[in-house]
Amino acid sequence: MVLISMLLNMNFRSILNRMTVKVVTCACVTLISSLAAAQQVNSEDVARGAYLARAGDCIACHTAGPQQPPFAGGLPLNSPFGIIYSTNITPDPVNGIGKYTLDDFSRAVRNGIARDGKRLYPAMPYASFTATTDDDIRALYFYFMNEVKPVNHKPPETKLPFPFNIRWSLIFWDFAFVKHERYKPHDDRDAQWNRGAYLVQSLGHCGACHTPRGLGFQERAYTEASPVYLSGAVVDNWYAANLRGDAAAGLGRWSEADIAAFLETGHGGQIAAFGSMIDVIENSTQYLHKDDLNAIAHYLKSLPAYGEKASYEPDTAAVAIKLSAMVTGEMEHPGAGLYQSFCVKCHKETGNGEPGKFPKLAGNSIVLSKNATSLIRLVLEGGKTAQTKKGPKPREMPAFAKKFTDRQIAEVLSFIRNSWGNEASPVTTRQVSSLRRALQKIP
Ligand code: HEC
Ligand code: HEC
Ligand code: HEC
Repeated sequence: MVLISMLLNMNFRSILNRMTVKVVTCACVTLISSLAAAQQVNSEDVARGAYLARAGDCIACHTAGPQQPPFAGGLPLNSPFGIIYSTNITPDPVNGIGKYTLDDFSRAVRNGIARDGKRLYPAMPYASFTATTDDDIRALYFYFMNEVKPVNHKPPETKLPFPFNIRWSLIFWDFAFVKHERYKPHDDRDAQWNRGAYLVQSLGHCGACHTPRGLGFQERAYTEASPVYLSGAVVDNWYAANLRGDAAAGLGRWSEADIAAFLETGHGGQIAAFGSMIDVIENSTQYLHKDDLNAIAHYLKSLPAYGEKASYEPDTAAVAIKLSAMVTGEMEHPGAGLYQSFCVKCHKETGNGEPGKFPKLAGNSIVLSKNATSLIRLVLEGGKTAQTKKGPKPREMPAFAKKFTDRQIAEVLSFIRNSWGNEASPVTTRQVSSLRRALQKIP
């Protein structure tokens, strides 16, 4: 309650500040439109809009970098067709969305059509945002128009090669792949499940990374009605894990509390977030209310297993023998020596890591994923755990790109994928080489 009233106060203050600034400095047109907007502004909507902008992670894509003005656009997003730059969505009337009416805003965010009629590339996740309710779109609009600072900055223009530069042709893509439907609550499910489903499918756009894509680069499903929904996918050279009920490689062994903690702090069930999930946690999910995090966890736990082959069986005799060989240094598996020399310090012989510091590798669902892209990339580049309000202080994992050959990386990863009861397909040298090449191509 205290927090909410603080938020409300802050909003009021900065709205007032901005209005006086506008009176002094801005052209008449802006003044009139901002007053018109101000008349209908309801401070509760603005505060809710700020929260929903967090839930939608608008800031991550629409801000060029850490020291850049928020929402002023210009972040280059890699797509298979070339680089797409995000746009300025501050209320600046020339370079931003200052002239957008509520209807214009709704059409851009939910239908993928800009104010000037231009079709937006689906790098803007409007195919998920289309499920957002009218109330939430209105709150978002009021937030952007009244609370976000206008920035007069023109981001670089997106110039994709032919035929992807022909924007009107996106109408066919949209027609084929996007169902323009608002979220409809399921009567046979409880309120918590519906809230979770709504957040995941609409503003959360979790499927934009976690759902496999088809030939048209469309997400193959947008709801739990399909078993491929959130079953894991590669985006931007990271593999976003399977979030379904698979016991080894999915969330089957995670509790709802682990999932909620992971989204709030980047650590849950002694697994640490890394790669592009870090940005999601730092910019978006760490700010969600406990109730909403629990609802998301509750919803994810309702998704049945997809059917990945990996398994985790720690309590067998073979596992005990292998572990004692590791402790005495008598391991002969390829990769074991590398693990002993370079990984044991943090992840330990038992593969259990150190609580609050280093993630466990034994039984870790991402380690057991059928697709090893994220593991390879992490070992190549290293990483740093999420920095959040409530989580432990960030820890680093060193980069091994210069230290290890492709073959060594394949061996050490195959080793951790098949130790301590982990059983997942081995990683090949070829997989490592091709990812290394792909990463070198990124500007
Ligand atoms: C995954 C990245 C991503 C996220 C998240 C995202 N956007 Fe976008 N958005 C884009 C890109 C890229 C474009 C430009 C697309 C193009 O040029 O076709 C865009 C375009 C837009 C436009 C059209 C602006 C114009 O210039 O006319 C609006 C409005 C918009 N986004 C609002 C939002 C809001 C509100 C949110 C959060 C609820 C959001 N976006 C979240 C990537 C994103
Ligand atoms: C920008 C891409 C992206 C988006 C959007 C995204 N994720 Fe992720 N997520 C990843 C990647 C990559 C991983 C694998 C690395 C890791 O485990 O941290 C991951 C991992 C996870 C994991 C851990 C799974 C495991 O087995 O280790 C959970 C839980 C998760 N995401 C939930 C979500 C939820 C809920 C949302 C929507 C609110 C979401 N993610 C949106 C990229 C994304
Ligand atoms: C100095 C400590 C340290 C060393 C040495 C180290 N790691 Fe890590 N490892 C970490 C940290 C910290 C993370 C979390 C990374 C992140 O969040 O970006 C991590 C994450 C991982 C993960 C993903 C698991 C998860 O839940 O996040 C894998 C797989 C992994 N390490 C494998 C290895 C391998 C293989 C080696 C040896 C070649 C190694 N690590 C060496 C600290 C270390």
